[in-house]
Amino acid sequence: MITKKDFGTTQSGESVALYTLENSKGVSVDLITYGATINAIRVPDRNGEFADVVKGFDTIEGHEKYSNYQGMTVGRYANRIADGKFSIDGTEYALEKNEKGITCLHGGGELSHAVWKAIITDDTSIEMSYSSPDGAMGFPGKVDFTVKFTLYEDNALKIDYSAVSDKKTVINMTNHAYFNLAGKGDILSHVLMINADAFTPTDSRSIPTGELRKVEGTPFDFRTAKPIGRDIGADDEQLKQCRGYDYNFCLNEGDGPAAVAYDPESGRMMEVFTDLPGVQLYCGNFLDGTRPGKGGEPLIQYCGFCLETQFYPNTPNMPDFPQCTFDAGEKFESSTVFRFGLYNA
Ligand code: BGC
Repeated sequence: MITKKDFGTTQSGESVALYTLENSKGVSVDLITYGATINAIRVPDRNGEFADVVKGFDTIEGHEKYSNYQGMTVGRYANRIADGKFSIDGTEYALEKNEKGITCLHGGGELSHAVWKAIITDDTSIEMSYSSPDGAMGFPGKVDFTVKFTLYEDNALKIDYSAVSDKKTVINMTNHAYFNLAGKGDILSHVLMINADAFTPTDSRSIPTGELRKVEGTPFDFRTAKPIGRDIGADDEQLKQCRGYDYNFCLNEGDGPAAVAYDPESGRMMEVFTDLPGVQLYCGNFLDGTRPGKGGEPLIQYCGFCLETQFYPNTPNMPDFPQCTFDAGEKFESSTVFRFGLYNA
């Protein structure tokens, strides 16, 4: 079932709509057209109690004023591009350096802050679309983006991304939901598995050095599930420079989940599936409680964890990473699934 409501008007006067997808189990997902954003996901715990497991805002003003990409679709290039530049076939492109004037973060924020068009495709899905003009944030090509959200009866939320450019360009799309499976507090006792033998360490700008470092014997080893907080304070130069986890994990190939997280107390669990090579684990390290989220609740450090499925950061400047350059007319397609359930151990 899908319902639609008005979600107010942006500062620039554009109307924003909120769509709610609901399945027969009572699980529901709120999507807003500003940023093609997931604004709520309500799932039951082991006693059947529902909680909203993503961070967000009650109003469009909240999203415009306080957002750190909560729930938003991110592109054209999710994550960072060093020095805000890259080249294709000998032409260098100068991008918006929206992070401290030195890096291009999340494609300059363009897709996340645009109002998308939405159509209800059937009883279970909404497709949102946005056309980015040639040269937006410095990137080449007019690109037509679509993001389709489908809620299944098994409580899986599937996100299908597609993009087609009229010029050769780079594409990296993700969703920046901050999950908290308890629906409150911080996520340090949440237990997490990431199916990755390596991660990409970074320099002080959070740009990968190029090394694919084995997680074995480091605080980055999530191959066997462990609480997120167990090693977060370890004496590790990488963890210290980012105040915790803010790193890309190089996913192992295979059909199983890329990641699984659960809250031991409520039993709520989430599995993540993706066809992309990486996932960024970020835990709201830089949030400091000064911004109000839903119900005015302060967005505190570690209030949620993001699992941003992606190409590795700075891929356009890293020829040895799995590549994300697409020819004119070539379709970028990718899917990520967040499936909710219960952990019964
Ligand atoms: C980045 C963080 C950043 C956050 C919010 C994440 O994807 O890795 O460094 O603070 O997005 O912009």
